[in-house]
Amino acid sequence: MSATSPVRPVLPPDIRARKGGAPLVVLTAYSTPVARLVDAHCDIALVGDSVGMVIHGLPSTLGVTLEMMILHGKAVVRGCQKAMPVIDMPFGSYEESPQQAFRNASRLMAETGAPAVKLEGGLHMAETIAFLTARGVPVMAHVGLTPQSVNTLGGYKVVGRDGEAEKVMADARAIEAAGAFSVVLEKVPMGLAGRITAALSIPTIGIGAGRDCDGQVLVVDDMLGLFTDFRPKFVKRYAELGKTAEEAIAAYAADVRSGAFPADEHSFPDVLPVKP
Ligand code: KIV
Repeated sequence: MSATSPVRPVLPPDIRARKGGAPLVVLTAYSTPVARLVDAHCDIALVGDSVGMVIHGLPSTLGVTLEMMILHGKAVVRGCQKAMPVIDMPFGSYEESPQQAFRNASRLMAETGAPAVKLEGGLHMAETIAFLTARGVPVMAHVGLTPQSVNTLGGYKVVGRDGEAEKVMADARAIEAAGAFSVVLEKVPMGLAGRITAALSIPTIGIGAGRDCDGQVLVVDDMLGLFTDFRPKFVKRYAELGKTAEEAIAAYAADVRSGAFPADEHSFPDVLPVKP
């Protein structure tokens, strides 16, 4: 994004205004080349803390640091001209107090240039979301399954079945009242997601929440078949890039071992000595 760019970048009020309109298209991105691809087709490039699992091989998102989010955030901002980069606040960087959240959210925005952050939590984060939005930090909220709470939730389960449905609805209403410009609904039963979408004036962005949301998000490495450690039911694979890459690497290794690579066209001829 640059001040002289002819393309007007998407900003939080544009996303809020899309409520009930054409579906919002969101993918995660963690690098400049992938951000460029996402930028061409999506409304938002989410620098998710899923980066810890899909890029850094961590067992959960809990080990992701602010420094990691800043590094990947800068890379994604460089790749976006139109799509809005949103950066996840990592575990431990915002839960302690609204002041801690502002200190770290403002660092994420100032050091990366991204115009918004995302944080997990409903009712209990409402005070923090209000504090941030009143001070110039647009917040995308995230309710339902909140992966940073995997240990208190007892796994990556569907959230909002049985007696939990009204709690998820109350969470969504609380973050809307606090000023969030949109909300991710993760692994929420589709009927409940539809009810929440109808009840809120801000867009809902679903992941494993069915079709009745205002938009959809997927982890880019999941839908490209690059991250294959596990595959949640809500992931649709649009490519098998991991398999294609594996075959290419095996072919390269075989060529080096057989001497088929490098060929003359990959090599530089010697300069002939100039005759007197
Ligand atoms: O970290 C992430 O990628 C996310 C999406 C799954 C919404 O939060």
